[in-house]
Amino acid sequence: MSYAIITGASKGIGKAIAEELAARKINLILIARSEPLLQQIATDLTKRYGVLTDIFPIDLALPDAPEQIASWIKEKGYAINILINNAGYGLSGSFERYDAAAHADMMQVNMTTPVALTRLLLSELKSHPKSYVLNIASAAAYQAVPGLTAYAASKSFLVSFSRGLRYELRNSNISVTVVSPGGTDSDFANRAQVSEKAVKAGEKLNMTAEAVAKQAVDAMFAQKTEIITGFVNKLGAFLVWLLPKKLAEKMASGIYSQE
Ligand SMILES: NC(=O)c1ccc[n+]([C@@H]2O[C@H](COP(=O)([O-])OP(=O)(O)OC[C@H]3O[C@@H](n4cnc5c(N)ncnc54)[C@H](OP(=O)(O)O)[C@@H]3O)[C@@H](O)[C@H]2O)c1
Repeated sequence: MSYAIITGASKGIGKAIAEELAARKINLILIARSEPLLQQIATDLTKRYGVLTDIFPIDLALPDAPEQIASWIKEKGYAINILINNAGYGLSGSFERYDAAAHADMMQVNMTTPVALTRLLLSELKSHPKSYVLNIASAAAYQAVPGLTAYAASKSFLVSFSRGLRYELRNSNISVTVVSPGGTDSDFANRAQVSEKAVKAGEKLNMTAEAVAKQAVDAMFAQKTEIITGFVNKLGAFLVWLLPKKLAEKMASGIYSQE
């Protein structure tokens, strides 16, 4: 009886991925900080889809969070063949607006925790006929984004990490996929303290978390290397690639900088 682990499963894209997997009869371990939300989602998905669920509420900014998760899984004897590193958040506005500790926490959640969790669960993932790692990056990974500077850099890291790891594991049973959503309706803008101006700019183009989750899960099972969700976001990344970097950065700054 195998399980999928989903980090950041209490809201937004992670919650929608949980529903998408439950609909495909996959048992779930849900991770995030908000215990009541996780409990509610787990109970609801078990009731509606008949899947087994468990939750592990934890702050993924804690340096020992991956160790705590791995020990708990071992203790419970859970078999894991899907790992979804989805939890993440941004800090918008000037780099100087946040202290070093705030940047460090964000980088821990967006980069260090997914790397550590993947490493700690690698032998478990290797012990099944077929396993999957799905990392949720961002369309912000494809250029520098002034006003979301450290966040965009953290997502570039995740894309590069995912591609490198996929290649290293190409002859193994583990398929690694990285999915980069563009603007998506979720709690992201609120947590990132994105300005009204940026929220308004994205509103009409945003995808739903459900649409992103479906594309992400389909890409994972199709063993794709890397996808950007939605036609507009794919086009955006292509245009950014064509433009002089300085121009792309000026345009992004016009949306995300709050000066
Ligand atoms: N929405 C977008 O426009 C967008 C675009 C591109 C990429 N993404 C990426 O998509 C992923 C999901 O974001 P979302 O849009 O669904 O945002 P969201 O609605 O804010 O959900 C973020 C999830 O991550 C969890 N999380 C955040 N900090 C955590 C921490 N310190 N410890 C444990 N869990 C934590 C949250 O749970 P708790 O608050 O309960 O801890 C929540 O479940 C993120 O990696 C984000 O960077 C989002």
